[in-house]
Amino acid sequence: MARPALIAGNWKMHKDHQEALHLVRDLGLRLNATLTSKRVEVAVHPPFTDLRTVQSIVEADKLPISLGAQHCSHLDKGAYTGEVSATMLAKLQTRYVLVGHSERRALYAMDDSLVQQTASAVIGAGMVAVVCVGESTEERSDGLTDEVLTRQVTAAVRGLPDNAAEDLVVAYEPVWAIGSGQAATAEDAQGAATHIRSVLASVLGTAAAKTIRILYGGSVQPANTEELLSGPDVDGVLVGGASLDAATFTEIVAAAVRCYP
Ligand code: PGA
Repeated sequence: MARPALIAGNWKMHKDHQEALHLVRDLGLRLNATLTSKRVEVAVHPPFTDLRTVQSIVEADKLPISLGAQHCSHLDKGAYTGEVSATMLAKLQTRYVLVGHSERRALYAMDDSLVQQTASAVIGAGMVAVVCVGESTEERSDGLTDEVLTRQVTAAVRGLPDNAAEDLVVAYEPVWAIGSGQAATAEDAQGAATHIRSVLASVLGTAAAKTIRILYGGSVQPANTEELLSGPDVDGVLVGGASLDAATFTEIVAAAVRCYP
């Protein structure tokens, strides 16, 4: 497959800027020895307060790490206390922004329309939107997985500019797998990724859909990475808990390098 793998670490609300400095230094040293494939890209998504610190180290030490954020406003500027805009992130050399993570959808009322507007803002600012989708436990047990994914993906990408596919990644993160220790099977991850790609094809066209990377996220660990990446439509992983430790995250990257030599 021509699509390069993306291994992204979502730190969530962990690590102050000093801890971030140590983590990214440690990670950088390890990756210099481990990241031997040009077909694997590594990104980290620290909290806002760490971005400047991480960006400075990545730049000064030329670390093979792309900078990601976890969220941003759909608006550009104004009286929106507590918000951070896409252009502010782009100024910090942020390359990826998670959009519509299930925790934002569930805890901060981020609906499909806001996800779409935020993805638009991210892409408009010259960054890559990593749109997160996935079904809940109830939706899964009611057999609604495909329906939920169709709705979420269609809503997120409808109305994006024609060339937006280049700046779009979709992360399939079943809510029941996040932080539960119970990852989806490789078969389920591949099945969902195939479905997502077919929805992308119907909205953006087949050629565009083939170029978009689809990640799996939810209880990814070094031990299940290779298997999860074995699906031809699974182009990387979004890692939460296991990205908070440099050694563990590097093992995940090593597994990806074995799959994408
Ligand atoms: P987890 O989180 O790896 O801790 O399950 C993944 C995520 O929420 O992005």
